[in-house]
Amino acid sequence: MKSKRGLHYCVAALLAAEAAFVFAQQGHTEALNQPMFSERTGDHLSCADCHAHARVIRGGKAGLGNRRSDALVVSALIDTVSEAHFLAAADPFDRDGDNISGRVAWVLSLPDQRAVPGRFGWKASVGTLEDQIANALIMDMGLENELLTFSTEACESDKPGCVVAAGPQAGAQASDAVHRLAPEVRSLARLPALPDPEGLQLFTDTGCAACHHPYVRNTEGEALPLFTDLLLHDMGPGLAEDRTVGSATRSEWRTASLLGLNQKSGLLHDGRAATVKQAVEAHGGEAQYSTTRFLALSETKMLALLRFLRGLQKKESRDVDISWIQRPFRFASLVHGPLDHDHVERRHADRAVARCSRFCL
Ligand code: HEC
Ligand code: HEC
Repeated sequence: MKSKRGLHYCVAALLAAEAAFVFAQQGHTEALNQPMFSERTGDHLSCADCHAHARVIRGGKAGLGNRRSDALVVSALIDTVSEAHFLAAADPFDRDGDNISGRVAWVLSLPDQRAVPGRFGWKASVGTLEDQIANALIMDMGLENELLTFSTEACESDKPGCVVAAGPQAGAQASDAVHRLAPEVRSLARLPALPDPEGLQLFTDTGCAACHHPYVRNTEGEALPLFTDLLLHDMGPGLAEDRTVGSATRSEWRTASLLGLNQKSGLLHDGRAATVKQAVEAHGGEAQYSTTRFLALSETKMLALLRFLRGLQKKESRDVDISWIQRPFRFASLVHGPLDHDHVERRHADRAVARCSRFCL
């Protein structure tokens, strides 16, 4: 019992990162971007509703910020980045004196409580693809899974969580939801085109590459042109939220990958920037020096840099089979066999208890 309670707290900390999702769910009646869901009700939510395009999901409540989702093609690549990259790239005490001190957001992985570098989410608060999917299932879709369940205890607002780890579960088999979805997401990975060398030089000279590492190594030792170091950086008060998430402070954010910029609806974590220039202007803190350099570029160089950035593509999605996430409920049938509305609705009823007591502020 004791150890279960310990786990309970850990998961609550991990899940704080996903708090916005709870309200995203609730948003089917109030806060969400209505047009996005107008053709379907909340029970019909699929991964593709939020991930077929990079779009902004409104948090809407009590300081829980909006979050832009990203195409899963990029997540599938991030999944393959080696742990050695994180250790090599981190410089938490700025020993090299470049005023940039990226740090690893260590998190505990759900099934075995192993410390792993956080790599997913704007706050790098989730360490493995399986954990991210478990979070998506329960927090975005109200589906219990082999890693996370709703607590059977009635939740009170002073308790840390209503979503708890399923515990060392006997039944965590390859047939379970998370383990069936993870290979599907992984299968989306495609190597992006190599960046143009001249533009890359300009990008590096402007200081952008200090955080947006052009290449990071995957577990096979291949260099992936991802344009992120996946580390947390202090981006200054302008980008700060009024809450912390996981180990990230209010103003710390994971460097965003710059692949497919022109396919995103709004840049930065909450989609506030309409153009690349606006996004860079919002960079403060550790990025201040590079922002200053960027704004001091001659017009010709600025245009060349912006052209270079626009050219950084993830592989076109038509090259990649994302049909499985595009069909509403495809994921649900994958998980539960034939579609079972009652099952999903019951989960949503449970959530009515779960979501408020856990996250009401
Ligand atoms: C209600 C909208 C919504 C749904 C539905 C949803 N997601 Fe997400 N997802 C998001 C948002 C928003 C983020 C960014 C969260 C953050 O960082 O705070 C995200 C993050 C992710 C990430 C990490 C992205 C990265 O590169 O760091 C993965 C992987 C992911 N989701 C997979 C899935 C899968 C698989 C499903 C279906 C089982 C799913 N999501 C369903 C909105 C959604
Ligand atoms: C100190 C590290 C750092 C430096 C230097 C830096 N960035 Fe960033 N960049 C980030 C982080 C962290 C984010 C995510 C911030 C957020 O969303 O709040 C980001 C986000 C972005 C985005 C938005 C991406 C998206 O998907 O919304 C763009 C565009 C961008 N940076 C371009 C640049 C350019 C161009 C430069 C050089 C002039 C640069 N950055 C320098 C850390 C950095």
